[in-house]
Amino acid sequence: PRYHFTPPQNWINDPNGLVYHDGQYHLFYQHNPFANQWGHMSWGHAVSTDLLRWEHLPVAIPEFTEGDKTTAIFSGSAVIDAGNRRGLCPPGTKNCFVAVYTGNVTQGDRHLAQYQNLAFSADGGRTFTQYAKNPIVDIGSKEFRDPNVFWYEPEKKWVMATVKATEHRAAFYESTDLKTWRFLSHFGPTGDTTKVWECPALVRVPIQNEPGKSRWVLFISAGHPQPGYVGMQYFVGNFDGNTFTLDPENPKPTAPAVANVVDWGKDYYAAIQFNHLPASQSNPIMIGWTNNWAYAGSLPTTPFKGAMSLPRQISLKRTAAGLQLVQRPISALNALRGAAQKRAGVRLSNRQEVFTKTTDNAYELTLDLVPGNAQSAGIRLAKGPNEETVLRYANGNLQLDRRRSGNVGFHKSFPSVEEAPLTPQNGVIKLRIFVDKSLVEVFANDGERVITDQIFPTENAGGIELFAEGGTAEFRNVVLWPMKATAP
Ligand code: FRU
Repeated sequence: PRYHFTPPQNWINDPNGLVYHDGQYHLFYQHNPFANQWGHMSWGHAVSTDLLRWEHLPVAIPEFTEGDKTTAIFSGSAVIDAGNRRGLCPPGTKNCFVAVYTGNVTQGDRHLAQYQNLAFSADGGRTFTQYAKNPIVDIGSKEFRDPNVFWYEPEKKWVMATVKATEHRAAFYESTDLKTWRFLSHFGPTGDTTKVWECPALVRVPIQNEPGKSRWVLFISAGHPQPGYVGMQYFVGNFDGNTFTLDPENPKPTAPAVANVVDWGKDYYAAIQFNHLPASQSNPIMIGWTNNWAYAGSLPTTPFKGAMSLPRQISLKRTAAGLQLVQRPISALNALRGAAQKRAGVRLSNRQEVFTKTTDNAYELTLDLVPGNAQSAGIRLAKGPNEETVLRYANGNLQLDRRRSGNVGFHKSFPSVEEAPLTPQNGVIKLRIFVDKSLVEVFANDGERVITDQIFPTENAGGIELFAEGGTAEFRNVVLWPMKATAP
């Protein structure tokens, strides 16, 4: 990818410890420093001033061994203790970086425990020291993980969301000193329980066009509307400092529930929010891992496996079906746009038309699609002589079809068609499509539906074609911007 985050080498999965501090965004991530496959989980680290251009830093929290026991650094979050008031860092430290993660303890082949640990950094997140009195939360479980800690202003305390993965329950804790934690409540099981629950994120999200109004949204990484895959679901509700309860306005989640799917593609998982965003930034920003455990280990990429999504700014929108999540790529992304290539309007009846051919498959494409009476209408992306990735609207669904997207044979679960139910607004479907070599992120109707998928096209398969089948469709305001690379 040219404008998505990837590590310089080796395996990555979940984003961890997303935090803004002193002009810099920190992205920590699940990382194997030694190989291009999952293992020796440690926290990799990168920083950015704009969430687009990332500077790679050395591993921040490495896996460690004590006696014959090894603790891997599983997923978690980070907060800043301003002024080092809780005294975790050495005296005189201005601001103490505190990472809360899951210690995954093994002894040889035996899996012994999962509990929540703390590590702190006095040098701005570059290096961390393990807290001497770890673990900070231990319930004697092997399936208890992914602490998501954030500051709860109304009660001036930290709250930690965790999951009891196999029980499909989130468990919340509170603390005023980050060291001692008190259990508050559970949420679940509900919604999708077809897979273990992982990576909770509890976030206050503003409602569009209702100044000052917000709801709490609980994100859970779990199953996918298509069986066999993992994905993310969300719950809209209220958090009163103690308990998370579902919003009575929103329909009770069933599995799979249309209203509760975060991303309808196969490659968006383990997303969490940034902590301590500047006050000017009133909407939360989340980043997810663009991959799926169904085939992650088999990706045909080297020297690294895994990437992060574009940072997404989130809000809620009031709809007939209740409050729904809306996701938009951060607006700073517009700065990466090169010279626009435009097409004012095209009407197609049972035919296709080449729009352009890009040389490097790294662009943003926006258009208004009027499906009209066509049975199927859309865009063929990353098109070469024998391959294409098809984004189409058919039967009330926005589909992303990657069955012929290039190299699809590396895993039997990879070839797939994603399907997101979508209603045109005044006959129009607004599409914002980001293609970046091996990544496609589609935002439909201003972020009401999102589809994120990996593809592995042939290097020069850069064709873009508009098409309408079984009727007439219109394509308005078609604009393509080549995107500038963010990696040095
Ligand atoms: C999610 C996850 C987490 C865990 C981490 C291990 O992708 O399985 O639950 O902490 O990855 O790498």
